[in-house]
Amino acid sequence: MAQQVLESVRAKYGAVAESGLSSKDAGVKAVAQAFGYSAEELRSIPAEANMGLSCGNPTATAHIQPGEVVVDLGSGGGLDVFLAAKMVGPEGGGDRDRYDAGDDRAGTGKRRGWRLQQC
Ligand SMILES: C[S@@+](CC[C@H](N)C(=O)[O-])C[C@H]1O[C@@H](n2cnc3c(N)ncnc32)[C@H](O)[C@@H]1O
Repeated sequence: MAQQVLESVRAKYGAVAESGLSSKDAGVKAVAQAFGYSAEELRSIPAEANMGLSCGNPTATAHIQPGEVVVDLGSGGGLDVFLAAKMVGPEGGGDRDRYDAGDDRAGTGKRRGWRLQQC
């Protein structure tokens, strides 16, 4: 049963990862903005980092400080990873500190191009 649930989660989120949805789609952008991500924040990161999967806005409430290490479990397209990378700055960590169950199936991070150094 647990394995079925895991496979179902992977399949559903993997399908979204393969869909090409991004902030370029008005509806996808609107979902993130409904959770409090500003238009400026969304413009500052790769459009593909937002796949319309927002269910909260952790970078708005986590009081992330320069130099901290942020680990994003369930990072999806990397929306919060990119924003957190700006907050922790060059002395902070996070460019490899992400994991998503969909990575194996969809190659999400690799396909969507993790270029945190460019933030
Ligand atoms: C609601 S989405 C949020 C994605 C991203 N944080 C965002 O805000 O755009 C949840 C993510 O968690 C991942 N996920 C679900 N269960 C997981 C698990 N057990 N381990 C790692 N990632 C998981 C999914 O693949 C999906 O990308």
